[in-house]
Amino acid sequence: MPFPKQGWQLWLSYFIAVLGLLWMLSQLSQLKIGKSAAYFLRYQCLDYANDDESPEKVCNCSAILQGEKEELQKAKLLTISKEFQKSAQVPDEYYINATQDCRKFKITRKYITFPLSKEEEEFPLAYSTVVHHKVQNCEQLLRAIYAPQNIYCVHVDKKAPASVFIAINAITSCFPNVFMVSKAVNVVYAGWTRVQADLNCMADLYNTSTTWKYFIKLCGQDFPLKTNLEIVQALRSLKGGNSLESEEMPQGKKGRVTNVHKVVDGQMQRTGKTKDPAPFNLPILSGNAYIVVNRGYVRSVLEDKRIQALIEWAKDTYSPDEFLWATIQRIPGVPGSTWPNRKFDTTDINAIARIVKWQGHEGSEGSLQAVYPECKGHHVRSICVYGAGDLQWLIEQHHLFANKFDADRDPIAIYCLEKYLRHKALTELD
Ligand SMILES: *[C@@H]1O[C@H](CO)[C@@H](O)[C@H](O)[C@H]1NC(C)=O
Ligand SMILES: *[C@@H]1O[C@H](CO)[C@@H](O)[C@H](O)[C@H]1NC(C)=O
Ligand SMILES: *[C@@H]1O[C@H](CO)[C@@H](O)[C@H](O)[C@H]1NC(C)=O
Repeated sequence: MPFPKQGWQLWLSYFIAVLGLLWMLSQLSQLKIGKSAAYFLRYQCLDYANDDESPEKVCNCSAILQGEKEELQKAKLLTISKEFQKSAQVPDEYYINATQDCRKFKITRKYITFPLSKEEEEFPLAYSTVVHHKVQNCEQLLRAIYAPQNIYCVHVDKKAPASVFIAINAITSCFPNVFMVSKAVNVVYAGWTRVQADLNCMADLYNTSTTWKYFIKLCGQDFPLKTNLEIVQALRSLKGGNSLESEEMPQGKKGRVTNVHKVVDGQMQRTGKTKDPAPFNLPILSGNAYIVVNRGYVRSVLEDKRIQALIEWAKDTYSPDEFLWATIQRIPGVPGSTWPNRKFDTTDINAIARIVKWQGHEGSEGSLQAVYPECKGHHVRSICVYGAGDLQWLIEQHHLFANKFDADRDPIAIYCLEKYLRHKALTELD
């Protein structure tokens, strides 16, 4: 019978036609032109192009990042001009006003509102940031580290000016994953409340989301040196480990934990009493507040009985944030910790958390005292506030973050770093 044969031929030719169509479609999607058009539509608007309105745009950031002398000279001259400084400053009122329309704020400030890759989406981060002034710095930092899958807790010092609190609060209210700490404290320099501010954010972050993998502590004058994807990759390569300064306490700092202290007129003073040794005879190590630790470390801080005892013991010491996290990092059983043995000591240079240039350690390569080249910006309390001339060196470091930046004094350094990172984030998608 001819009929079934005809049907069979018909189906075969349909089948071949569909196969051909599928093949053509798959070819089309791989064409360069298709890809770059999609790239343009989706990502171009997120790049910081030269069509922006910022006064820093007169600088050639690629020349600055390559350390070209003439361009650095030009940046330096601009930086010391009061007129330029003024024009680059964004007042707190701007943020209060601009955040009334959150959708517009996110678009004009070019926030990334979708995960840039699956790898990042599957590896959310938790940030804790302490702030007491410089809203502009803080907002530029948030914009540089913001990704919708991450979660951000901001602690504004209770004694910060009202406009700082209102502006930061207004910014955070534009994002479902950025929030103000539930309990803000009055931060006393070198006092216990600095740690309490961190603990409050840790508890909020731990309670608010169960999915984040790593906790990163920052302050408002830090800035990233890596894109979110690079941060995720660096953290994954720690394979569950933590990365923070944790080393033998220098002799000169031991008095901080052997004497009882108390706050007098907003300052830490010795009472003349001697402290008992730490609970469980835990060895006290030296470090700093800016840590990169996994979720299990944070759980231990909130729940481990030994750490609860250590926290109670630390409350009347001097600058507890400079030994508490370093000490917890060496307690057996804390996820990602290492043994207390000296061979596991980690310096701030070896840890990936954060690079700070201390004036006393600047110098030339080859000198036994020097740790890094001289600061090209200026110093505040012996810490380098980076200038445009520091960028070339900074972006070569393995650290995820650097301190200190100041949008009021050296806006070009932040501007070029921010631009470099955003461009990298968008091009590394391919
Ligand atoms: C900026 O500097 C780079 C590196 O020196 C150079 O290749 C580029 O042409 C410069 N761009 C402009 C607009 O001057
Ligand atoms: C506040 O923002 C609106 C537009 O969003 C603008 O028209 C107005 O001038 C701004 N007010 C101040 C005081 O900046
Ligand atoms: C976490 O949330 C639970 C209930 O939602 C609450 O009972 C608990 O006290 C919170 N823990 C912290 C550390 O805030």
